[in-house]
Amino acid sequence: MTELLNVSGLLLMLCGVNLCDTLGYKPVIIVHGLFDGPKQFVQMARIIEKAHPGTNVSVIDLYDNMASLTPLWKQVLGFKKALYPIIQEAKNGVHLICFSQGGLICRGLLSTLPDHNVQSFISLSSPQAGQYGDTAILNWLFPHYLKAKVFHICYSSIGQELSICNFWNDPHQKERFLKTSKYLALLNGEKPHSKMTVWRENFLRISKLVLIGGPDDGVITPWESSQFGFYDNNETIVEMKNQNWYVTDSFGLKTLHARGDLAVCVLSGVKHANWHNNETVFRSCIEEWLT
Ligand SMILES: *[C@@H]1O[C@H](CO)[C@@H](O)[C@H](O)[C@H]1NC(C)=O
Ligand SMILES: *[C@@H]1O[C@H](CO)[C@@H](O)[C@H](O)[C@H]1NC(C)=O
Ligand SMILES: *[C@@H]1O[C@H](CO)[C@@H](O)[C@H](O)[C@H]1NC(C)=O
Repeated sequence: MTELLNVSGLLLMLCGVNLCDTLGYKPVIIVHGLFDGPKQFVQMARIIEKAHPGTNVSVIDLYDNMASLTPLWKQVLGFKKALYPIIQEAKNGVHLICFSQGGLICRGLLSTLPDHNVQSFISLSSPQAGQYGDTAILNWLFPHYLKAKVFHICYSSIGQELSICNFWNDPHQKERFLKTSKYLALLNGEKPHSKMTVWRENFLRISKLVLIGGPDDGVITPWESSQFGFYDNNETIVEMKNQNWYVTDSFGLKTLHARGDLAVCVLSGVKHANWHNNETVFRSCIEEWLT
């Protein structure tokens, strides 16, 4: 019988006795985005398991759907509790795939977990430099507001109780953003704080940062935010390398880049809701980092 077992069958057997991560692929943990949950990632888990048999893929079932509007620091605390036991079990480390808003939650996790063993951090169409654009979500949340007015809500203490306001980045309201943003401005080190050095060290424990996004996304605005580009006050894109926090290396991005540990993957033809279901995306931008 033994000769009929192929390598993947063998790995599957070994995984049953919990040796999977020492012999095969590292576990993959998925953090979902705004207004979704584990259900939307069933297909992605299948794609991963098909390509890398025996991989233990977990989609964290927390703050799903409407609850995804919970302020991001609160979500980070919740996700930390779920993540911690998994990373402690995984002696050789884990990989994180974080979609959309989940990419910002993952940065919060990676900055504040001192002893994490996350290897690849895959940021899948995530507004890493913030969001500024009219989208269906925005129009539904704030039906009587145009994007230029959203700052009135978002840059207030009440607004900051909504996840989306934690990364709303109005390029015409920089001062208010810096004054009120409780999340993005701190993560990006735009607003200096006492934990910056520690957060940077924690973040730099990852061995690879993979930034995936593209011009046909339709939700992340500007789409370049998925690669740390963002609007200046003329709404012209300033690319990552010319952003102040890159130049000053405030959270480690420049160091990652210099170490050769930053991979950027731009694909066209992918709408926001399709990044995690698209096999081409997986093969071109994700698969090689999940070993
Ligand atoms: C997969 O990972 C989860 C979370 O750590 C764990 O509970 C489960 O036992 C693992 N499954 C296998 C087959 O190793
Ligand atoms: C904005 O555009 C105007 C006119 O094109 C230009 O003079 C100005 O320097 C620009 N400002 C920035 C910050 O790029
Ligand atoms: C899948 O990704 C490829 C490569 O970017 C793209 O051309 C194609 O349109 C995508 N398909 C869907 C359904 O998103």
